[in-house]
This record gives sequence, C-alpha cells and structure tokens, in this order.
Amino acid sequence: MKKQNELKKIAAIEAMSCIKNIISKKNIIGVGTGSTVDYFIEELSSFKENFLGAVASSKRTELLLSRHGIKLFDLNELTELEVYIDGADEVDYSLSMIKGGGGALTREKIIASSAKEFICIADESKLSENNLGKFPLPVEVIPMAISVVSRYFRDLGGNPILRKDFVTDNGNYILDIHNFKIGNPVEMEKDINNIPGVVTCGLFAIRGADKLILATLNNGIKYFAK
Ligand code: 5RP
Repeated sequence: MKKQNELKKIAAIEAMSCIKNIISKKNIIGVGTGSTVDYFIEELSSFKENFLGAVASSKRTELLLSRHGIKLFDLNELTELEVYIDGADEVDYSLSMIKGGGGALTREKIIASSAKEFICIADESKLSENNLGKFPLPVEVIPMAISVVSRYFRDLGGNPILRKDFVTDNGNYILDIHNFKIGNPVEMEKDINNIPGVVTCGLFAIRGADKLILATLNNGIKYFAK
C-alpha cells in the first residue's frame, strides 16, 4: 500500500510538471477525484499563482482545493477548459478507463467531456493488459430505477451490488457491477447509457484519456498517448 501511494504521488508530480508548460494565468484546470488526485492537488497548491483556478469533479475535491486556497469555478462559467487531470480504477492501452471507485463518475465525465486534454494519472496496478473489467463497473442510477437497472445487468451476466451507505453528490445511488465482461468498451458505454434510470456509467471510452502517466516500480514513469 505504501509503495502504491508513493507511485500515485510520483504520477501526480509528473502531471504537474507536464501541465506547467501549457498552463497560463488565464487558465482554469479541471481536477478529478481520488487519492491520486489528492497528491496532485498538493502539487497544484504550490503553483497556484500561475493559473486562475480550478473546476472540481466532486464536493470532496472542492473542499480540498479551497483548503489549499485554490479558487473554484463553476463549469457553467467557462467557455473552455485547457486540461483535466484525474485518476482511474482501471485503464487499458487504448486509454479507455473504468472510473467511479470514489463515486464521482458523473461530474468527472462531464468535466472530461469539456476539456481539451484529459490526462490520466495512475500507479501501475491500474493498467489492464487485456479487457477492462477487473474492477467492478460503477454505474450511477436514479434511486427509483435500482431494481430495473439491476435486472438489466443480471440478464447480461453481471452481478450488480448496491454500494452500501453511499449517495452521490447528485443524490443518486451507485450499482457496482461485478463479473462483467467488457468486450468493446465504446459500444458497451453507449448501450449502458441507453438504459432508462442510468445517469452515468463508469466506462470512459467514448471520451477516454488523451494521455496516461503511469508510475511503475521498476521502469520509472511510462507515458501513453492516443
Ligand atoms: C473517483 C475515481 C477515481 O479516479 C478512481 O477511483 C481512482 O482513485 P484513486 O486515485 O484513489 O486510486 O474515478 O470517482
């Protein structure tokens, strides 16, 4: 665990040095959610005079950013977002991801869709050599649709489990779909998006990451790009 956290921090530090070159005083940075991003926020705080502020993907991130004195913006106020930095629960070589382990998938997906560049930061345990699906797929669901949506996933061979004692920042629930085979992530994401009651699914394939900064134990930092 200690090693994994060190790798998360290394990826976060690297992301900071990457964006230093593309960010100016008029830019706002999109900031994801999770423990890897927490390290990134620490880095951002020492650079805060060099950008305008941030748009946060969760209440948790909002709190952390304001504690570090970083100005918050509402996405509706912005006409463009230069870059979005976020972690992932699982990522493959095409830079499709499973996200939502922290339950912030909806806001994450909205911000990712509006950013010019999406940089994913992760430790090596997140990389999937084969198909995505090691990590249970989080799906945000309107509360009244939990049974209907669960049945849909059971019919597809998945095992949906309602995330215990958890309500999203948007007032919805999360179903974590275990044992779910994801063959074609783009098609699967479209199909899940079409289920009535689904707010967002944690597959980020239609808009995957543009870059992956992966911190590894034995081979240093690896870069992947689309
Ligand atoms: C939150 C997410 C996170 O990016 C994902 O869970 C990774 O978290 P961590 O950096 O703590 O491993 O999608 O909704």
